[in-house]
Amino acid sequence: MNIPGDLAETLRNAQRVAVLTGSGISAESGIPTFREAQTGLWERYDPQQLATLEAFHQAPELVWNWYEWRRELVERTEPNAGHLALVELEDLVPDFALITQNVDGLHGRAGNIGVIELHGNITRTKCSMEGEIVEEYEEDASPPVCPNCGAPLRPDVVWFGEMLPPAAMETASNAARTCDLFLSVGTSSLVYPAAGLPREALASGATLVEINPDETPLTAYAHYSLRGKAGDCLPSLVSALSA
Ligand code: OAD
Repeated sequence: MNIPGDLAETLRNAQRVAVLTGSGISAESGIPTFREAQTGLWERYDPQQLATLEAFHQAPELVWNWYEWRRELVERTEPNAGHLALVELEDLVPDFALITQNVDGLHGRAGNIGVIELHGNITRTKCSMEGEIVEEYEEDASPPVCPNCGAPLRPDVVWFGEMLPPAAMETASNAARTCDLFLSVGTSSLVYPAAGLPREALASGATLVEINPDETPLTAYAHYSLRGKAGDCLPSLVSALSA
């Protein structure tokens, strides 16, 4: 991927860079994106209908098993060149914030520090009543129950209709409003409030860069639209910065 010379220059001069990632960055690790058709056993289910509190109340076993399947998928995958380039970028930029909508934990496994996880993390489990993270429990039921109160356990992710963790959202919003350059990577830019972050950055005068093989509702607003895969574009961007 060819990086425009003036973009490389802007990145080189940037003191503060904020990055927002979506499921597209993990596609090259083998994790289907959120809106992509699901495969195998789960083909006939719509993720948007499984990822809700209502679905969990109505069909707790189905929802738990779906997350178990996704958790196992995530455990078998590794961070890809796109994730690794963001670790390098964190080292190169004076002030760096990585905000993700992904629940796969791959940024942390790649080595980024202080990742702002807006939608939680699939590798953690919490009590559906108390909201506390539960580390140890009997895995004898689907879903298992909380050892403290007996309520069903659930993944520590944000479901449709649920509030985002307020502290994470505030940190993300601050990073967006104070950055010189905002990078939106592998997200369809459809789901708010995360989709509002690049717009906040833009309103505060940041340079907006989008990396996505396809057009999104954000493309028209981006100063630079790099039409390609995160695993190609991000390493190229980092090379251009260090050149
Ligand atoms: P989507 O599935 O909506 O969008 C994935 C985006 O990644 C699409 O725009 C693809 O074009 C792009 N893409 C695919 N392969 C790519 C690659 N190799 N490199 C770069 N981009 C690529 O996923 P998200 O935008 O992450 O929220 O979805 C946002 C949120 O919607 C999810 O976090 C989830 C869902 O509602 C919750 O569960 C709360």
